[in-house]
Amino acid sequence: MKAELLSADEGGIGRAAEIVRQGGLVAFPTETVYGLGACALSAEAVARVFAVKARPTFDPIIVHVASPQEARRLWARVPRQAQRLMNAFWPGPLTLVLPKKPVVPDIVTAGLPTVGVRMPSHPVALALIRRAGCPIAAPSANRFGRLSPTHHEAVMEQLGESIDAVIAGGPTPVGIESTVVSLVEQPPVVLRPGGTPLEALRELMPNLRVEARSGPSASPGTLPRHYQPTTPLFLLEPGLLSGGQALDRRRCGLLAFRDSWEGFAHVEVLSPTGDLIQAAACFFSALRALDRMGLEAIVAEPVPEQGLGVAIMDRLRRASSGRASLDAGQVWIHPRA
Ligand code: TXA
Ligand code: MG
Repeated sequence: MKAELLSADEGGIGRAAEIVRQGGLVAFPTETVYGLGACALSAEAVARVFAVKARPTFDPIIVHVASPQEARRLWARVPRQAQRLMNAFWPGPLTLVLPKKPVVPDIVTAGLPTVGVRMPSHPVALALIRRAGCPIAAPSANRFGRLSPTHHEAVMEQLGESIDAVIAGGPTPVGIESTVVSLVEQPPVVLRPGGTPLEALRELMPNLRVEARSGPSASPGTLPRHYQPTTPLFLLEPGLLSGGQALDRRRCGLLAFRDSWEGFAHVEVLSPTGDLIQAAACFFSALRALDRMGLEAIVAEPVPEQGLGVAIMDRLRRASSGRASLDAGQVWIHPRA
């Protein structure tokens, strides 16, 4: 069955809310990426989310709320630090992990005693949660391990045959998933860098730790291999010369930060002005465009690791996981015949 494509207006959101209340699955825009939403209080509806995404049941799902009060109904305790973070960053791309109340079904949290909650800032997401009358559990609306969708067309392409509806909200403004912070232990720890920059979080939490990249994973979005296009992706990292490997630019696509390069089959420039916010906003759609061109490989140029650049580099490293990084010199231009 094909998903209904609903308009992002009162009528469409009302229909989507009705589907959620009846236990169905609706993809909806948030400011970060599209979420695949189900009523968070229905174990059965959430089980369908896992099935449709082919998501391993050890990977917990974020619950979306429309106010901090609603979050308090899901968490067993709310330390002052959590309240300060909600005041500063909600609504917005920050997920907070705290011990859960029994009302949150175990399937939502993959059996963990904690639940990740966030209040999105996208008006369509907020209206949907309010009208559904329940918190909405929603992972990114892609198949497990694949690129997160930042446009309703990308959702339709991946999941259009297996969910009930998609709200046509157009492109998502932030473009990269929320930052996930666990307040379960002290000092607090970043489980996944994302749309809220670490620098901003450190102003309120100078002792914030960042979980080691390849360590045992408390947050499966931090699996080393994740966010992968189907075309092999290589990261250009000078000093990390792999040796041996070389690529002919004419058969490769380039994901560039600010300047285009000569000789590639296709180039996507993330931000001609070098703006990391703009780069994040078009990151997944640029990667998806390159992935659809049937190229031999995608070569990605690193971006500065500050602000949203930390989250972009995190996604790029996972997308290239298992492949050696290349030095620019290894992506050669075939001499003209
Ligand atoms: O921006 C976002 O966060 C998007 C939009 C739709 O809100 N959602 C998203 O969900 O990216 P997902 O499922 O693709 O990634 C959620 C991440 C996963 O890495 C998951 O492991 C982590 O959040 N997470 C959720 N609940 C957790 C918990 N209780 N403990 C640790 N990590 C948790
Ligand atoms: Mg995801």
